[in-house]
Amino acid sequence: MDLLDGLGWDAEAGVARASHPFLKWAGGKTRLLGRILPHMPARFVDYHEPFLGGGAVFFAVQDRFEGTAHLADLNEELIHAWLAVRDHANELQEALHVYAKNDSKEFYLRVRTEDPVGLVPRAARFIYLNQTSWNGLWRVNRWGQFNVPWGDREFRGLSALTLASLNRSLARSEVRCEDFRDALTRPQRGDFVYLDPPYLPISDTSKFHLYTEKRFRQPDLMELASLCEALSARGVPWIMSNRDTSLVRELFASSEIIRLTTKRSVAAQNKHDVEARESPEVVVVGRTA
Ligand SMILES: C[S@@+](CC[C@H](N)C(=O)[O-])C[C@H]1O[C@@H](n2cnc3c(N)ncnc32)[C@H](O)[C@@H]1O
Repeated sequence: MDLLDGLGWDAEAGVARASHPFLKWAGGKTRLLGRILPHMPARFVDYHEPFLGGGAVFFAVQDRFEGTAHLADLNEELIHAWLAVRDHANELQEALHVYAKNDSKEFYLRVRTEDPVGLVPRAARFIYLNQTSWNGLWRVNRWGQFNVPWGDREFRGLSALTLASLNRSLARSEVRCEDFRDALTRPQRGDFVYLDPPYLPISDTSKFHLYTEKRFRQPDLMELASLCEALSARGVPWIMSNRDTSLVRELFASSEIIRLTTKRSVAAQNKHDVEARESPEVVVVGRTA
């Protein structure tokens, strides 16, 4: 594999920029980039991604804007990881090295129960669990405790080169732990917004993805729909990914809805799960005034 595989070389800065996420995230959009990117403007001022997760789309659009990337998510642990990568790369690399040295199933189970204090220790634990848990899943119970089984995968950490390139990618970013309702007050005409909210379950009995202690429910999607209308009215272009359901079609009826057909990898692990077999997704493209 080429040393710079997955990195975009920035000749002017003399530093490579990362083009791939450093986290594995349920609902991550890497596989769908080819279907999403063509619907985005070629140039914009600031970029806004209020449901950041692993940030697959952010890494893919870095060359389209020269302003600031406003990156946000309600998962505080996830945001700690992004902040540590941006602001404390050396310290983080040392902390990850300790995890790599001790990596084993027993160690994983112990780390799962720990609750370290401080941004870098919390971020290092998060990245370790993300890379070694079953399918990279992040799931917490109602008390906020991480409860995903061991994934039987070797922990590789993040190399100095990867950290440097991630750093470069985040040089012009504001990273916040906040609700989408706050994040969506910021975009201005000339900016672009990409939205990838958690999908509502197909049926009442199917499982939610518990990214955060607070579930994303139908009233949240309804509020998101009216905030999207407000973006359109302010002249801000936006795109949302979602599942193709009658509710999504109803709430976003005034936008262009493009259907994609795909299988979702995390759900596909469970053959008994209805959502695994066929999960048609859509790209909703906002119309601006
Ligand atoms: C489908 S994932 C985004 C995946 C991302 N596009 C990627 O490529 O990795 C949805 C994200 O929304 C976050 N989230 C859930 N409820 C939220 C809320 N009310 N406000 C902001 N973020 C929220 C979750 O923590 C999760 O990271």
